[in-house]
Amino acid sequence: MYTDKVMDYFHNPRNVGTIEDADAVGVAGNPKCGDIMQVTLRVEDDVIQDAKFKTFGCASAIATSSMATEMIRGRTIEQAFALTNQQVADALGGLPLHKMHCSVLAEQAIKAAIGDYYVRQGILTADDIKVYDDPHAGEDQPEED
Ligand code: FES
Repeated sequence: MYTDKVMDYFHNPRNVGTIEDADAVGVAGNPKCGDIMQVTLRVEDDVIQDAKFKTFGCASAIATSSMATEMIRGRTIEQAFALTNQQVADALGGLPLHKMHCSVLAEQAIKAAIGDYYVRQGILTADDIKVYDDPHAGEDQPEED
């Protein structure tokens, strides 16, 4: 059901934790299952130097959170914002269709953190970033198994 890579990132998650005095913090939750992810970023000159996560969730949520933080390290804020849950799932060799929705958590939390970064930089207001809350709002998501 899961690829070896998913199992590896679930059993040996990279970048677990919280960055002290982070430049950005984002949180996302899945209201259907109650799983939640927090991402913290260290940013210098709009480049993500460090990214850490804490996820209370299923194996797919943990594996995708871990992979996503690896994929945005060393990337610009703009590049990180463009990261999609499909790209993260692909980097893990794929996810079962009914678990794809779990990968949305990481994308949402990263977008929330980037929104927080822009607010802290004075580029956006808290009202502006409400649009980042749920980039998949309105999309059909399979039910839990
Ligand atoms: S994120 Fe909740 S079941 Fe996977």
